[in-house]
Amino acid sequence: MKLIQVEDYQDMGKKAAEIILDRVRNTENIVLGLATGGTPISTYENIVQDHQTNGTSYQHVTSFNLDEYIGVRPDHPNSYHTFMYKHLFHHINIPQEKIFLPNGMAEQQQECRDYEQRIREHGGIDLQVLGIGENGHIGFNEPGTAFDSTTHVVDLAESTRQANARFFESMEDVPKQAITMGIGSILRSKEILLLIAGEAKSKALAQLLDKQVDEQFPASALHHHANVTVIADKAALQHT
Ligand code: GLP
Repeated sequence: MKLIQVEDYQDMGKKAAEIILDRVRNTENIVLGLATGGTPISTYENIVQDHQTNGTSYQHVTSFNLDEYIGVRPDHPNSYHTFMYKHLFHHINIPQEKIFLPNGMAEQQQECRDYEQRIREHGGIDLQVLGIGENGHIGFNEPGTAFDSTTHVVDLAESTRQANARFFESMEDVPKQAITMGIGSILRSKEILLLIAGEAKSKALAQLLDKQVDEQFPASALHHHANVTVIADKAALQHT
């Protein structure tokens, strides 16, 4: 696991975009795994800015998002589908038919199988972007999730619902379930870029860098992967 230390959230976005752009420019038919949440927004801003100034093309890019809320329509303001179009897809020239997110309105078990199958049919993910939850979750894989799990339905931890409540009008509006790529699905990516910023994530980062592998701390599964880069800012690094 390689660690890149940056000054702050904005610098993290610049560094992460630099790495993603390098892979996008130099890989034929690249498959990206993308994340939502507050963490990757500065990264997406830098990608959009580069597209506007340098014209980097996304015609050859396929993307799979990590997760989506269950019972939330794709066009709902709080869906991850809406988030991705708002922060990234509307602003770059990625073909519509190459964008994949789990469908939170579909028959769940079938959708999980289909999503996993679609990733496989595209040759797997070349570069997976990840954030981390304060409890160490990746995607929506909460503590206790098996490391060999594939795309599945999860009941969200109360702490995760509270952390995400800021995106909703009230706590009751925060969905209780989601579909997420599993830890096993994530570990099959060829390369992983984990972004960690802010004091709230400092304990999770310290635990990750502790190198103890434990199913109660989902991100520790990344120690089983040979090509992981962590970009962390000073605020997140303060307990290390
Ligand atoms: C959310 C998402 C994760 C994300 C994490 C951290 O619940 N499902 O993919 O990495 O929690 O979110 P944030 O970046 O907003 O802190």
